[in-house]
Amino acid sequence: MKIIVIMNRIKIYFTSLFVLFVLASFQNIEAETASSTIASGTRHFKAVINTGVPPRARGQKDVLQLRCAPLPVVRVGFIGLGMRGQGAVYRFTRIDGVEIKALCDLEAYNIKSVQSELAQQNRPLPDEYLGEEAWKKVCERDDIDLIYICTHWALHTPIAVYAMKHGKHVAIEVPAACTLSECWQLVNTAEKTQRHCMMLENCCYDFFEMATLNMAQQGLFGEIVHVEGAYIHDLRDLNFNDRLKKDNEGNTFIDPNTHLPQLTGYWNHWRLKENTEHDGNLYPTHGLGPVCQALNIHRGDRMDYLVSLSSNQFNMTAYAKEQFGDTSIQAQTDYKKGDMNITLIKTVKGKSIMIQHDVSSPRTYSRIHLISGTRGYAQKYPEQALAFSPRTHSPMLKEQMDSVLKVYEHPIAIEIGEKAKAVGGHGGMDFIMDYRLVYCLQHGLPLDQDVYDAAEWCSIIELSRMSVNNHSTPVQVPDFTRGAWDKIKGLNWAK
Ligand SMILES: NC(=O)c1ccc[n+]([C@@H]2O[C@H](COP(=O)([O-])OP(=O)(O)OC[C@H]3O[C@@H](n4cnc5c(N)ncnc54)[C@H](O)[C@@H]3O)[C@@H](O)[C@H]2O)c1
Repeated sequence: MKIIVIMNRIKIYFTSLFVLFVLASFQNIEAETASSTIASGTRHFKAVINTGVPPRARGQKDVLQLRCAPLPVVRVGFIGLGMRGQGAVYRFTRIDGVEIKALCDLEAYNIKSVQSELAQQNRPLPDEYLGEEAWKKVCERDDIDLIYICTHWALHTPIAVYAMKHGKHVAIEVPAACTLSECWQLVNTAEKTQRHCMMLENCCYDFFEMATLNMAQQGLFGEIVHVEGAYIHDLRDLNFNDRLKKDNEGNTFIDPNTHLPQLTGYWNHWRLKENTEHDGNLYPTHGLGPVCQALNIHRGDRMDYLVSLSSNQFNMTAYAKEQFGDTSIQAQTDYKKGDMNITLIKTVKGKSIMIQHDVSSPRTYSRIHLISGTRGYAQKYPEQALAFSPRTHSPMLKEQMDSVLKVYEHPIAIEIGEKAKAVGGHGGMDFIMDYRLVYCLQHGLPLDQDVYDAAEWCSIIELSRMSVNNHSTPVQVPDFTRGAWDKIKGLNWAK
């Protein structure tokens, strides 16, 4: 009898172990994280995935409001001269007090294209660096102050870290980092080397965004409660296109004016690969940057946790079938990236943020840019709208809205907006961004965006993926300032 009881107990014990094992497998928690556990009946599930905050290394100190020696002439090396990088060099030729010292790319025709533009402007021709690891040579030069990085995403952090370790300030195209490990590498290297590390989040400098930031800072919205941002941009053509334009015979088309090929797709299909391999929000910073600035993130508030959800993927396959046929490799590929990703973030001060990402649906472009407070509201897409208490049922009439936008035009837009529109780059915002970067470096001022902005905004890439892959489990957003998020009171662009 006693033996039967013991046998039964052993059976119950092993059955329970098995059930727990199966439940744990269903949860599929992929992150190597510490996490709290909630008991729900017999089920146990992870309540919050917390990736933690590594301690700051000895001798390392924060770079909030970092000031470095003024650089009356900013000497720049550009790495990555594709569709985006070429425009960046052009914009720098329109800024005083800048010397372009080095151009680096893998494709000779990109370097040639930039050189011919500089030659037309009668400017000194920078040194050329061609090849996979040539960027290291650029970073190692001792006559360069700023490394400006416009490569595909995978090289952003490796180049930035190497450059900072060689004493350079860095400006990195979006996203500056693709993983949490890269976010921490940027923060730790900037803190160790006391170099500026700015992500080039140009959308923070668009005219409506800057005006609404000004309104937010002047209290027009009252207490901001909820914000929304997005990157909704149909990139299917660019993602699937070949790098070079073809003529009618299928040969590389050579532009009769420049005698160079024209770029019509990404180098080595890098962006298609990112969309093939990863789910979550791959490109959060255009929507997130401006609304985080309005919320004073790490300047009095900080992102606490998020939950994220993706639709399944339909559009990449549908497009590939249409363009290349049902049996093509493109149509047979398993694209991990769901078409629509929605991420909700709560801040420690109780504000909510909603960020969307969709680059594969046939939709019109939108970054939403919505700010909602206790006294008013602003939204940029699909139509600009402003409304203030007590007249909140409908947006202001266009004329009225335009005059409010004029009154609250951001001082920096007033200062440089006209020139920016003339130079161009997404309607001028790219130029304002570069102008501000150079201005702050020239005057030894803190930059408008610091390394913590870069890390916080980019961390959403991996954090949203963790949540999506774990049934939208909440995920803690690390405090990249390691406790100093309340030290600075409000965002203030240095003058
Ligand atoms: N802020 C914006 O509005 C905006 C707009 C477009 C692109 N971007 C960002 O700009 C970056 C570049 O995008 P793109 O559209 O120019 O892509 P692209 O593919 O045209 O350019 C990438 C370039 O990097 C070069 N490259 C690759 N490996 C290299 C290496 N080892 N050394 C030197 N160069 C190397 C390639 O030859 C290519 O010219 C991306 O990070 C993208 O997200 C930002």
